[in-house]
Order: sequence, then structure tokens, then C-alpha cells
Amino acid sequence: MSASDPSYHPETRLVHAGTLRSQFGETSESLFLTQGFVYDSAEECEERFASSTPGFLYSRFSNPTVAMFERRMAAFEGAEAARATATGMAAVTAALVGQVRAGDHVVAAKALFGGCRWVVEDFLPRFGVASTLINGLDLDAWRRAVRPNTKVFFLESPTNPALDVIDIAAVAKIAHDAGANLVVDNVFATPLWQSPLALGADCVVYSATKHIDGQGRCLGGVVLASEVFIQEHIHMLLRQTGPSMSPFNAWVLLKGLETLHLRVRRQTETAAAVAQALAEHPAITRLVYPGRPDHPQAATAQRQMSGGSTLVAFEVGGGKAGAFRFLDALKLVRITNNLGDAKSLVTHPATTTHQRLTAEQRAELGISGGLVRFSAGLEHAYDVVGDLLAALAAV
Ligand SMILES: Cc1ncc(COP(=O)(O)O)c(C=O)c1O
Repeated sequence: MSASDPSYHPETRLVHAGTLRSQFGETSESLFLTQGFVYDSAEECEERFASSTPGFLYSRFSNPTVAMFERRMAAFEGAEAARATATGMAAVTAALVGQVRAGDHVVAAKALFGGCRWVVEDFLPRFGVASTLINGLDLDAWRRAVRPNTKVFFLESPTNPALDVIDIAAVAKIAHDAGANLVVDNVFATPLWQSPLALGADCVVYSATKHIDGQGRCLGGVVLASEVFIQEHIHMLLRQTGPSMSPFNAWVLLKGLETLHLRVRRQTETAAAVAQALAEHPAITRLVYPGRPDHPQAATAQRQMSGGSTLVAFEVGGGKAGAFRFLDALKLVRITNNLGDAKSLVTHPATTTHQRLTAEQRAELGISGGLVRFSAGLEHAYDVVGDLLAALAAV
């Protein structure tokens, strides 16, 4: 049985799947820091380029360490194929741009990470691809947005930063009825807690920069789908335009995958403890956590996610000034714009990741001046909760 076999538990696949051992029989995955490959004869080189014999050609699109990362991700996600990219944004851009031509139309939920929203709203229209942003929670809004030329639906769930949970299976059905494909950015759910392909999505994208690395070291991205989807929409775009993952980053991310389930489980426990400790706090005016029964889409979350979240969103009383007083009073939890790290982190979305939006657009998405996004790290939960409570006392 191959290590990628789905009858192995996810934890086992995360450690073994996709490994390519060299002639030295190394235990840990090898780092192939090479641009290209040599051939014993011109004939062998010709055959390799004609794809009549298997093998690697050039690290812009084929490298053994990157291939191990892609194969391990595909085995974990339950996808037929995967392609790694330099960043999460390169993965999102490839997944969208690879499917459309001038004259096509894309529908996306408006609750998107700032960069993703820019690609949909500002970048695609430059090339004659129209886009419509809708409230992703409203299934009728997806239906109403469909045009004869709609090719792609795009969403993230839970959303960044307000942690809304969109019904992936329902949106996939609407997309397919309209003859469109659904792309899901699964960064906030992580591959441990949500499997969009099993829910009907056609393509899943990750910023591997987040939980997959999980230790704040390097950037990366990955696109996962069926072999046909990857060949039709993704492979040539990445091969010929070159937003490739470096072999070094692939090696770091491979080692990150080995511990992903341990880290994400622990981070989820800590996030749940934080949500529990802060939910009734008098300085908090609103708290959203996908693992809680009071989450606005708790039923959907329970249906499509097998765990809570490593993130908690909450609103500190006193608007931006209150939130800033809270952030500045933290001693252990660090202020940043990133998430999914070994270190617990807090972000003020209105002035960082979603700063580019207008005040009205932010209000529509529940991104108030008081909103804080907390990302659980690997510290002891007691210390993290203690730091947050002490800082809230300063608000
Ligand atoms: C939901 C989501 N998608 C995509 C990205 C982009 O990933 P990267 O920073 O690796 O390009 C991020 C974060 O940056 C994100 O939070």
C-alpha cells in the first residue's frame, strides 16, 4: 500500500505521503537545490522533454522537493493533483486567472482577504473579465449574480477576518447548475478541519505561509484539484509564467506538514479557551468563534467543519482607540498582520489587511474599528488567556 493511500489516517499521510528517496536512503526528505537536471544522452533529454520518459526537467515547474510537497498536500487533501506556488496570492491568482478569458465573468463573496479582493475586483477587469462581489452568506445572491458567461465562483470560509461560515456544498451546487467551477480558499479552516473538494468544490487554494509552515519562516502557496482541472487551467500558466515555489521553501513546508495536525489541534484548543474566556467579558462587545454554538452560522460550521478554528474575532469596546489600547497593552501576544504561527498573534484588520477598503465596505463586512483578529499559537493556553485578560483590563 502506498503512503498516499486514503485508507491511512491523515496524520500518517502527513508524515509519509509523497516521499521520494534518493539512492542514499535518507530518512528526512532531501532538499534538491538545483535549477536543472543533466541527461546521459541527447536521446534521453529528448525523451524527457517529450514526456515519453518520466523525470524532472527544470525547477521552474518540476523539482523533486517541490514534487514531494505537492504529492503530500494532494494526499492529505484528497485531491488528484497539486501545484505549488511562491505565495498564497500566486496560488489564488493562478486558480482564478487560469480559468478565464476576456469576456468571462467571476462571482465572489465580498468577504475576502484584501489581496484576493483586489485580484477579483481590480485586476481581472483589466483583462476584460467582469466580476461581481456578493454577500456569500446569501445563497440567492449567488444565484442572482450568475450570467451566461459566468465561469468561476470564489469564496473563503471561514472568512478573513470576521469568521463567517459560508455553505460550501450549497454554493458548489449553484455554481455547477450555472456551469461554473467553485474555487475555495481554505486557509482559515486548514486542511485538517475542512475538505472543500469533498463538499463539491472544484479547486482548493492555500497560503502555505500560514498553518502549513506554521512557524513564521517562509511563504508558499498550493492549488489542489482534479488532474484534468490542473492540466486544463493551472499547469501551463504556472509553467510558462513562473511563480514557482523554491525547493528550499518546499522542504520547510514538507517538514511543516509532518506536525500540522499536532499544531492545528493545539491551536484550536487554545482558540476555544480564548473564546470561552472572552465571550462574556464586559470590554468585549461581540465575539465570533466557529466552534461555538452562538456562532451566527453554527449549523453550517458543524456540518462542514470537523473542528473549530485556530482564530477568534472579537470587538473591543471603544472602537479603534479601545482596540489600540488593548493591542498596546499585550505583553506576550504580538501585533502583526499574519496568522497560523507558533506564536499567538493579533491583527487589527481595519488598519492592516483590510485598510484598502472604504469605511462602508468595511462596515458591510463587520470590520469595525474595534475588531481584533486573534490567531492562537503553541504557548500554554493559560499564559495566552492571561495576557489577553490583562490587556483588556487596560481598555
Ligand atoms: C485567506 C487568505 N488567502 C490568501 C492569503 C495570501 O497568502 P500569502 O501571504 O502567502 O500570499 C492570505 C494571507 O496573506 C489569507 O489570509
